[in-house]
This record gives sequence, C-alpha cells and structure tokens, in this order.
Amino acid sequence: MKPYLIAPSILSANFTKLGEEVDNVLAAGADVVHFDVMDNHYVPNLTIGPLVCKALRKHGVTADIDVHLMVQPVDDMIKQFADAGASYISFHPEASQHVDRSLQLIIDSGCKPGLVFNPATPLQHLDHVMHKLHHILLMSVNPGFGGQSFIPQSLEKLKQIRALIDQSGFDIRLEIDGGVKVDNIRAIAEAGADMFVAGSAIYDQADYHEVIQQMRSELALVK
Ligand code: DX5
Ligand code: ZN
Repeated sequence: MKPYLIAPSILSANFTKLGEEVDNVLAAGADVVHFDVMDNHYVPNLTIGPLVCKALRKHGVTADIDVHLMVQPVDDMIKQFADAGASYISFHPEASQHVDRSLQLIIDSGCKPGLVFNPATPLQHLDHVMHKLHHILLMSVNPGFGGQSFIPQSLEKLKQIRALIDQSGFDIRLEIDGGVKVDNIRAIAEAGADMFVAGSAIYDQADYHEVIQQMRSELALVK
C-alpha cells in the first residue's frame, strides 16, 4: 500500500485569501491541494478555472495540485490546466466523448491522469484504460457541492475498485472525495482508499493542524 495522502479541497477555503489558506493547510501537514472545477453544466455549480491554478503557482505553491474536472467537454480544460501548473488531472468518463484520448492528452501534457466515478457510475469505464491511470477518484457524494454527507455504499464500491486495482497489477492510487471526516477516514482507508480529499472537515475548523493530525492518528490505526 502506498503512503496515505491527505488532500484538502479548496472549495471550502476562504476565497478572499486563497493563497494564504493553501499555504496554511500545507504548513499544517496536508500533502496535496485538491482543486474542484465546476462548470454549471456537468454539475449544477460554478467554481474556479485555470487562472486560479496559475495564481497559486505564482504565489509560490509547490505542492502537487490535484485538479478534479467536473466539466463537459473536458479536453480543452485539460490543456489549459496543464499549462496553468496542474499536477494531477482527473475527469468524469461520461463527460468525455473519447476517454482514452482525454487520458492520453493528460499524459502528453506531462500531468498524472485520473478517472472519476460518481456514486452511480458503473466501473466498466475502467475496463480498457487501467494501464493509463495514475489514480481513480471515487465520489462518495454526488458532485457539485462541499459539505455533503458520505454515502455509506461507497465503502463497498471502494472495495470493488481496490480489488480491480490489485488484480490489474498496476500502481494506481485510490482517492476518495466527499464527506470524509475524522470519524470515518479509518473505515474508508480499510475499504482500500489511500488518498483522502476533505474540504469542509478541514477548512471549517479553526486549527488545520489539529484536524489533519487527528486524521493521521485514525489512519495509523488502520488494519
Ligand atoms: C464535490 C467536490 C469535493 C468537495 C468535498 O463535488 O468534488 O471535492 O469539495 O467537500 P467535503 O469534504 O466538504 O465533502
Ligand atoms: Zn473534488
């Protein structure tokens, strides 16, 4: 199993001081910056684009930026985010006309490709592309908003994906996104996740270091 990575979602950060918020969460022990891109088309919400990613790089953020595209179509955004300094880029397979082409575009842009599954998206989309994936992101809420509750059936789906990854023999991260908290992160890890997006659980607390430490303490107990 790979080392666990904690990826705070900036969706719940204070956008009036985003650079400082990202600096603080990284100084508090976060590993990766999770960057949610919503287009009011694929999902019913509108957030931030490549300019903001570029601004974080210009501000001095050197940590990996994990861009989660909730947009349709996806290919043009892949190019723009790669140019803006993204490290990982993932998209939802049903939002792309040509999944293999979009994954290849991410690879050719020098970024790490991922596929994202909504709670009800079937896993068959993985069938012919496992060899191209750096990560698989399972949504444990329906995409579009922070602060929703973890859907319990996601644990079973995580186990299924974990088994597929292990059977494939490929070195693929399994990321979970939505409703991750201190009190469920251990069960989520035990179901097979090794990368944890948490927005409201971290940014809604006054002390980022404390909550990240609590998450790591829970992860240390994983069997
Ligand atoms: C939802 C986003 C998530 C969201 C998670 O569409 O993909 O990354 O910010 O927020 P929490 O951790 O608050 O559920
Ligand atoms: Zn996300």
